[in-house]
Amino acid sequence: SIEGRNYDHGSIDVHTHCYLPRYMEVLRNRHPNVPYVIPDPRDSTLDERYVILPGEDNDPTSAIGRPIGEEYFCVKEKLRYMDRHGIAISVMSLANPWLDFLPKDDAVAMSTLLNDDLQEISEDSKGRLYGFATLATQDPIAACKEVERLATSQRMIKGVILGTSGAGKGLDDPALEPLYETLAKHNFPVFLHPHYGLGNEHYNNTGHSLFLALGFPFETTMAISRLILSGAFDRHTNLKFLLAHAGGTLPFLAGRLDSCVSGDHEMCDKLMHPPTYYMKKNFYYDSVIYTTPALQSVIDLVGSDKLMYGTDNPFFPPKEGARSDAEWPSTAKNYDAIDGLEDESVRNAIVYGNASNILGIDLLE
Ligand code: URA
Ligand code: ZN
Repeated sequence: SIEGRNYDHGSIDVHTHCYLPRYMEVLRNRHPNVPYVIPDPRDSTLDERYVILPGEDNDPTSAIGRPIGEEYFCVKEKLRYMDRHGIAISVMSLANPWLDFLPKDDAVAMSTLLNDDLQEISEDSKGRLYGFATLATQDPIAACKEVERLATSQRMIKGVILGTSGAGKGLDDPALEPLYETLAKHNFPVFLHPHYGLGNEHYNNTGHSLFLALGFPFETTMAISRLILSGAFDRHTNLKFLLAHAGGTLPFLAGRLDSCVSGDHEMCDKLMHPPTYYMKKNFYYDSVIYTTPALQSVIDLVGSDKLMYGTDNPFFPPKEGARSDAEWPSTAKNYDAIDGLEDESVRNAIVYGNASNILGIDLLE
């Protein structure tokens, strides 16, 4: 259980989402194009339904998506969830698929509006909420301008969340170089988060289980590995990424990546360092991986000062419903994984200390 946990401070949650009301309106006007939100066709007094994932609209096991209620878009619900689970501070981000599906100009305009919403919500939160901004990566130059604007005037914004698509050709697209330069210049970390999945053709008849458990982390692993091999972290030595789900599978595969790159002499000559060098220097990792051994392996590889607590709220709600007073088992399991680490100073670092240091967040009294 979460009550009685003995951290000397409440946690800082760096992986927690909110579909801001303005974004909900976009989702409500898209049916039948995924992602969309519709009233429940069986009973319009129930929660609306959200169809989010690629192909979900023709998956018979999840034909009308998932219920979507205030836990997805109300700040009051976020704070209630935080209070229930010992979370002092949340760095909120829009959830997938961000602005990926919008035409370029619409995405650019929406990005500014959403980021201003996030700034304002955070300013009004008495130090409990911060934000990772949303960018229109379809237009990398506009995205640069938005980062400049945020870095100079919107102080509650601590970085940006990005998916893996970039301007349509992935994160190693040369068109994104100016964006990386601007992000590095302003010390804005990129929270890299999956949406599309990888290997989806293999997950027959397993609902969302394998798509989320495997496809999501595989997607993150592929995207960040490509970015490493493009030499991006040699060109932008101060560029920082926070990798969702403890880096996908990257920490486990680090040795193979080093070994296979060093065995490919042409590739190897293009990089100044082995991939694990950048994994230690340029990357942070969230703790959304649910077991102590997985956390320990990240610590062993990159050090205990690189991991930051996350929940993935409001995804993975309890059976009783997201707005019941029930403890969220997904959140408890994540805390349990951290509790299993032996060193108290390491546990405190992961739960709040690292996020405070890395993102420059003041702890609450
Ligand atoms: N499912 C999603 O679509 N996104 C998340 O972040 C988690 C689960
Ligand atoms: Zn998430």
